[in-house]
Amino acid sequence: MIGCGAGAAICEAYRASIPSDNSHQARNTIAAGTFALGMSKLARSAPMQTKLTINGKSHNLNADTRTTLLDALRNHLGMTGTKKGCDHGQCGACTVIVNGRRINSCLTLACMHDGNEVTTIEGLGTVDDLSPLQRAFVAHDGFQCGYCTPGQICSATAMLEEIKAGWPSHVSADLNAEIALSDAEIAERMSGNLCRCAAYPNIVEAIRTVAQGGRT
Ligand code: FES
Ligand code: FES
Repeated sequence: MIGCGAGAAICEAYRASIPSDNSHQARNTIAAGTFALGMSKLARSAPMQTKLTINGKSHNLNADTRTTLLDALRNHLGMTGTKKGCDHGQCGACTVIVNGRRINSCLTLACMHDGNEVTTIEGLGTVDDLSPLQRAFVAHDGFQCGYCTPGQICSATAMLEEIKAGWPSHVSADLNAEIALSDAEIAERMSGNLCRCAAYPNIVEAIRTVAQGGRT
């Protein structure tokens, strides 16, 4: 990151704010508070250069420090796969994966991610070569309007890695046992991603199919 001491301080506060229990509510509450603090401190700030690696490609972003990662992706870099729903950390439509962890891109400033690796829906698969989750969403009818779908798929992609790594959730009965991917586990772990079309049963089915190694 170039210049701007306030920006660097806010980045530090952001990193320190990441909760160890990864609870969705705690994550969003803390991120929202840090974000608000950042926005007020940066009220008179200037453009800043930020290096981002997005879907394996390097980008130099020159944007106002108040630019969210979501707006940087959509408005500055032309990657419109990531969707803006509420813009307040409540719907999950803007979910992307940063350094392997899923986050709401509307709740974080782009300048906080200098040097980070970002994966968006465009990086998970292509029209000719869909990712396993993308194929499963199609096969199981896991969407209607499709607006929430990029966020659902990014979230589910990272969520399956969390399970592989043995991270328990709020509904895991035994913290030491291997995690059984029940419907309750999937629902809890995907609770940050809302679907206004209520395609939930099919979304759960799609995720379960991929988690169990099923082909679609
Ligand atoms: S647009 Fe980010 S959570 Fe709704
Ligand atoms: S498919 Fe329409 S909001 Fe989820």
